[in-house]
Amino acid sequence: MAPVNVSSDGIGIAHLPNQKHKIITNRGANYTIMLCGESGSGKSTFINTLFTTSIKDYKEPSKRHEKQLGRTVEIEITKAELEEKSFKVKLNVIDTPGFGDYVNNYDSWSPIIEFLDDQHESYMRQEQQPSRNGIIDMRVHACLYFIRPSGHGLKPLDIEIMKRLGSRVNLIPIIAKADTLTPKDLATFKQRIRDVIKAQNIQIYSSPVDSEDEEVTHRNQSILDAMPFSVIGSTELVHTADGRQVKGRAYSWGVAEVENEQHCDFKKLRNLLIRSHMLDLISTTEDNHYENYRQREMANRKFGESKAKKYDNPKHREKEDALRKVFTEQVRQEENRFRQWEQQLITERDRLNKDLESQHAQIKALEGELEQLYHYHQQGRGSIKR
Ligand code: GTP
Repeated sequence: MAPVNVSSDGIGIAHLPNQKHKIITNRGANYTIMLCGESGSGKSTFINTLFTTSIKDYKEPSKRHEKQLGRTVEIEITKAELEEKSFKVKLNVIDTPGFGDYVNNYDSWSPIIEFLDDQHESYMRQEQQPSRNGIIDMRVHACLYFIRPSGHGLKPLDIEIMKRLGSRVNLIPIIAKADTLTPKDLATFKQRIRDVIKAQNIQIYSSPVDSEDEEVTHRNQSILDAMPFSVIGSTELVHTADGRQVKGRAYSWGVAEVENEQHCDFKKLRNLLIRSHMLDLISTTEDNHYENYRQREMANRKFGESKAKKYDNPKHREKEDALRKVFTEQVRQEENRFRQWEQQLITERDRLNKDLESQHAQIKALEGELEQLYHYHQQGRGSIKR
């Protein structure tokens, strides 16, 4: 895990009402972002961009380097620890295998929906236990849905998936690879997507913008107005015509800059995710999505009874069960892989600390000898006794 400090804008804990602040500070928070969308739409690149632009000294588990080159074939979890004053947030970013190029698309996205429900279910079961210490909470607080920059609009598959996601989780639509559209085409594409979202009644994330501070209200409004967020993903440092070095994509016509608000909404999205709206995303998940799930499930079954599996299509029952197992197993394996990596880091840290201690002891001994030498020298006496 890479312990990090977020930049001075902070994650807004200080602005929380006292009571909530106290509760969250005491228990710390798990914060999980999930990415989904078609294969090749730029999800993995986005994660790398997010981590390398916001987290100082971020070190990736080695596996991520390997996979940068290819397609995501299994769930990948990237973790970091965000810190603001005494408040810590454990950030998990889940990258899901892309869909859209499969013969039967249904197969590739149904486990994602099941996964979201399963996390609520697992949390609810743990909450019902007499001892609620050490609850494992992998509920997803924000789901970024990557839309291909086709210029046309949302595909029927996008609409179907987004509807299901939006009813379960804070859904944030993303227009990937914004550098492949002209600014005019991008604006038109954005508007088309907004129109479809409205017409199809797709529930996307929104939050109250009002704050006592006028500047904050304005900033919140401008962040939410940018939805669906256009992003350019790149971890490459390139040179602009005016000599700046920036993260971006170099073309013959110039550089598409990741953090330039004239080029894309990456900065606004990052702000929303890890600064201004992080706590709102956490609390709406708890108060709305989880609460809806809990109430729905409690109304349909007795206390402690397990969840009845719902199958959209009974023909898919076996396949769905198998896929769910694979998906959950992959998340578990990622967790284990990460724990091992974390353990290695702890062992390495302990070893370095020991080395440091022994070097300190040596320095102390040398200082003692030096002092003795100085003492003898001052008194004009002979050699030092060792
Ligand atoms: P799966 O792993 O198959 O789900 O794909 P993915 O969604 O994780 O896509 P990935 O990040 O692997 O990117 C696919 C290709 O698109 C790579 O060649 C990236 O370099 C490229 N790409 C990613 N982001 C951008 C972008 O913002 N602009 C452009 N032009 N290309 C991008």
